Amino acid sequence: MSINDSVSQDRFNSYDTEDIWRKDINHFMHPWTDFTQFEDKGSMVVAESEGVYIYDSDGKRYMDGIGGLWCVNVGYGRAEIGQAMAEQATKMTYYSSFGHHTSIPAAALSAKLADLAPEPLNHVFYGTGGSVANDTTVRIIHFYFNQLGKPNKKIIISRENAYHGSTYLAMSLTGVAYDHQGFDIIGEPLIHHVSGPDMYRGRGEMTPEEYCTHLLDEFKAKVESIGPENVAAFFAEPIMGAGGVLVSPPGYLQGIRELCRQYEILFVADEVVTAFGRLGHFFASEDHFGIVPDIINSAKGLTSAYAPLSATLISDEMYEVLSVPQAPGAVFSHGFTYSGHPVSCAAGLKNIEIMEREDICGHVREVGPHFEKQLATLSDLDIVGDVRGSHFMLCVENVANKETKELFDPDLHIGDLVADACEQRGLIVRPIGHLNVLSPPLVMSVEQVDWLVATLREGIIEVQDSLIRDRKWSPPSS
Ligand SMILES: Cc1ncc(COP(=O)(O)O)c(C=O)c1O
Repeated sequence: MSINDSVSQDRFNSYDTEDIWRKDINHFMHPWTDFTQFEDKGSMVVAESEGVYIYDSDGKRYMDGIGGLWCVNVGYGRAEIGQAMAEQATKMTYYSSFGHHTSIPAAALSAKLADLAPEPLNHVFYGTGGSVANDTTVRIIHFYFNQLGKPNKKIIISRENAYHGSTYLAMSLTGVAYDHQGFDIIGEPLIHHVSGPDMYRGRGEMTPEEYCTHLLDEFKAKVESIGPENVAAFFAEPIMGAGGVLVSPPGYLQGIRELCRQYEILFVADEVVTAFGRLGHFFASEDHFGIVPDIINSAKGLTSAYAPLSATLISDEMYEVLSVPQAPGAVFSHGFTYSGHPVSCAAGLKNIEIMEREDICGHVREVGPHFEKQLATLSDLDIVGDVRGSHFMLCVENVANKETKELFDPDLHIGDLVADACEQRGLIVRPIGHLNVLSPPLVMSVEQVDWLVATLREGIIEVQDSLIRDRKWSPPSS
């Protein structure tokens, strides 16, 4: 892919790629990294960005099929967000929000979020990211039931293949078995897991309706076995993201929501990925799935990643319980130095202003179905077992045998092979094990979607051909 005209090549001459690469490899301990591979390959130095594209320090342009990390929702290079942040940093850099001080953007953003969220969720607690938001939520829920005089209600039910973050507690909520390798899990027996919906691998011969009933029955059995009086909350991503873009069968989320109400279990929607437009709405829970949770967590798209910020949205009813001191003089003893950081809140406000002004949610509702349809055309390829997801949250599952759904040998790193072949062609797709995940900036046009899908097709075909050539795999029918 050629250099975009609007980004001058001269700028890239000033970057000393080798020097940056070396400093990085020697000193930056990257998150979620296979250090054995890292020692050889190091990092691509991402130097510039614009719209749906990033540029490496040598000036090569890549279409960003993963929106940074499901987060650069309004796209790169929005000068007005940068300006809003700069103005806030200059005017009033920071002041603690502990107790009785606030900032203008924190107050304004809170009111705006209350306006956008489902009706009873009118109170916002800020953190710096999704993991922190989920940790916060567990503390708040425990405090809430203590306040209600139900101190036994402590257990949290999460799901297999859920991803809720990397702090110790959020990772214990996480149900992706692979993510726990070599680490410990804390929180047991505080945290229990039920099956996560998996329409491709978990459903077997069941119809979607039967599968939904099966999952609801399993949830009920889990609650009954623990005792409803001991269960505090259920955590769910409306569509499971990092666990494999797993969409639940129709009626599942609504069914669990109802069961939670019956058992007095709080329903927490982890909308760290799904909020702020990825499914075509500011919040997906009510507008896309028809459920109103007790708590919604959001981060990522809240500022489109221009600044770190998370928002935990809590219902009026919960706030009323939380806001009564548990003892004379006691305070709600939870919070972070950077809760409601004014610069991050200024970024969030401007981000939402842009989303509303450009009707980015409407754009996603319009282009999303086209994206789904186009991506589904890859199903004719020999190694594509499943194509799934919704709107701008999609995934391709690569398999060695489409009939049996047999996986490739993990040592083959099939997801990486496809991602590398795409990268050569100027497209970034995210490998997660044998999957390739897509979550681009929400401003991607129809033409760009078509180029993305065509390029991914080329990448997959190249991988198939090279596996056949190297005698590492052959199509099952041949
Ligand atoms: C659904 C969900 N929850 C929580 C997190 C953790 O967010 P963070 O990495 O900002 O801590 C993520 C991150 O991808 C996520 O996808």
